[in-house]
Amino acid sequence: MSNLERTLSIIKPDAVERNLENEIKEIFKSKGFNIVKNKKIQVSKSEAEQFYKVHETKPFFNDLCAYLSSGPIVVMILEKENAVAANRELMGATKPEEAAEGTIRKKYGLSIDKNSVHGSDSIENAKVEIDFFFKD
Ligand code: CMP
Repeated sequence: MSNLERTLSIIKPDAVERNLENEIKEIFKSKGFNIVKNKKIQVSKSEAEQFYKVHETKPFFNDLCAYLSSGPIVVMILEKENAVAANRELMGATKPEEAAEGTIRKKYGLSIDKNSVHGSDSIENAKVEIDFFFKD
């Protein structure tokens, strides 16, 4: 049964800074994701706070938002069968040292903050996150 889904992916500042944008996009494409839309932007601290609102009570919230707004990022709408789960599997665990071989965070992640990519954690959040960056 077909279950085409969309999810939001972000190539974070550490990866953009290391010129990994094209390499990471090629990984997504080679795994069957269609990049429906993408743009390179820089968010303000308050936009980062809105985006990561679900984490606002966490001790790492301030550092997380400062980091996401620290440099250019690439935001992408990815489409594939079961895209939300497939993207989470391809990204690997949040902590790069815990990420499985063959995952993006294992290959490129530097630390729990500089973990190179973000991906929506549920179908519901994917819709909210896609709207956040691609409302127009
Ligand atoms: P991301 O998938 O973008 O979602 C929230 C981010 O918070 C996460 O990736 C990490 O980069 C960052 N983060 C920092 N500290 C923690 C922590 N202790 N637990 C989970 N995420 C953390």
